[in-house]
Amino acid sequence: MLNYVTDCFSKEPRLSDELAQIVAEYGGEKGALIPILQKVQERYGYLSEEAVSRIAKLCRMSQSEVFGVASFYAQFYFTRRGRHSIKVCLGTACHVRGGERILDEVKRELGVESGGTTDDNRFSLERVACFGSCALAPVVVIDKDVYGRMTVSRAKEILAQYE
Ligand code: FES
Repeated sequence: MLNYVTDCFSKEPRLSDELAQIVAEYGGEKGALIPILQKVQERYGYLSEEAVSRIAKLCRMSQSEVFGVASFYAQFYFTRRGRHSIKVCLGTACHVRGGERILDEVKRELGVESGGTTDDNRFSLERVACFGSCALAPVVVIDKDVYGRMTVSRAKEILAQYE
């Protein structure tokens, strides 16, 4: 898998050192694996195969152990993410009030499927089961912005606000 981190390692060895620095900040302890993974993801946007492999070596763990821990948590991503995250709710309340139509419009507008990232790396799209804001259904969350009572036409306008 060709990815950002691999590219960086080959083109900018300085970034390779960054991973070692991050792990060193936590003493290279297995017990600090979650914060290490969080920091690496914060820095690179996702956890590439190369990053997982290097973290495993630096923490004296197997690659499958690190991957096993990371894949347990929904917060970690293993593919490149877009600059903005769009989450469309398809829980019962949102579904009943047109969540599926909103999702279809977002997919059509951006040319991306759920779970995917646009070619220009602008958006990553996900569907979620419920945000716990059912009174606002249908709900769409972009980054940290919550949009309630979403409509197909509003969705299009709102997407245009994110570069
Ligand atoms: S079902 Fe969408 S917020 Fe609860």
